[in-house]
Amino acid sequence: MDASVFQFEGKSVFVAGGSSGINLGIADAFARHGANVAILSRSQDRIATALEQLRRHGGAAEGYSADVREAAAVADALKQAHARFGPIDVLVSGAAGNFLAPALGMSANGFKTVVDIDLLGSFNVLRAAHEFLRKPGASVISLSASQAFVPTPYQAHVCAAKAGVDMLTKVLAMEWGGDGIRVNSIVPGPIEGTEGIRRLAPDDETRERMTARVPLGRYGSVDDIAGMAMVLSSPLGAYITGVVLPVDGGISLSGPRDFGAAWAATRRES
Ligand code: COA
Ligand code: NAP
Repeated sequence: MDASVFQFEGKSVFVAGGSSGINLGIADAFARHGANVAILSRSQDRIATALEQLRRHGGAAEGYSADVREAAAVADALKQAHARFGPIDVLVSGAAGNFLAPALGMSANGFKTVVDIDLLGSFNVLRAAHEFLRKPGASVISLSASQAFVPTPYQAHVCAAKAGVDMLTKVLAMEWGGDGIRVNSIVPGPIEGTEGIRRLAPDDETRERMTARVPLGRYGSVDDIAGMAMVLSSPLGAYITGVVLPVDGGISLSGPRDFGAAWAATRRES
């Protein structure tokens, strides 16, 4: 393969939710390959730590503290990033929240909180970014989850929210194709060392059962996901849009998971 397809020197990358975990791993991969990177999330402290990491690669990196549920704040951050780095070549929308709870164990506000962060937040990020995306050429990637298409007990809020995220991906791929903007979802499997998997598999028993369901027999790495984000945003991805792409060692083939035991473990801990 021609390695030059992964050169992102001088490209502008904006990652919503980019201060930790998978999203930071994606931001880091682009920074390692020469991009200028902007990240957005709530905690100033976490942004500062992430920026230190990103700037070590030699490119420029900026951080914006905002809640993706606040459309005006998101738009303002995107405007500032555009002023700093120019048209956005790669937009990643990955801010998310999760907790384990049966539907009867979550209030309307608990359900709404996750839907607002994951789904409304993605809409806010993508909607506000359109004005600032490179046209033609931008690659937009939302982070989804297998809960979008695998009904998963104790995850009613995430299932509803991520199904919406993937439908947004498909609709905007159609609406924005004419602008030369590609819109795709990546569906990570269980990713080692991340907050998301800590919340879903907090105990050894759940972790072992989860691993046993992955056809490739292991948790994924942050780099597994970052690599696919780069492929989708490189010339190799030039004809790919509207796709919901599992990068999950095959776990989404193995059907519904029930997090009842993990939920019980969470309750014992608290
Ligand atoms: N079980 C049931 N309900 C829960 C819950 C749990 N474990 N954790 C939170 N909730 C409910 C709260 O009780 C509250 O509802 P209420 O007002 O009716 O009591 C509602 O969710 C909002 O909680 P709050 O703590 O105010 O929300 P927040 O906006 O500060 O934080 C979360 C959002 C809850 C998702 C928080 O965990 C978070 O910020 N997560 C980000 C990191 C993350 O989840 N990473 C994994 C990504 S996959
Ligand atoms: P993470 O480390 O918890 O990252 C979430 C990021 O979003 C943080 O930077 C967080 O920072 C930010 N964020 C949360 N709520 C926000 C809000 N309201 N406004 C702005 N920013 C907010 O998560 P992760 O486990 O790496 O997961 C990343 C993505 O991959 C998520 O979309 C998740 O659904 C998806 N995914 C993860 C896994 C997994 O195994 N981890 C599996 C499938 C899918 P602040 O809290 O400071 O705002």
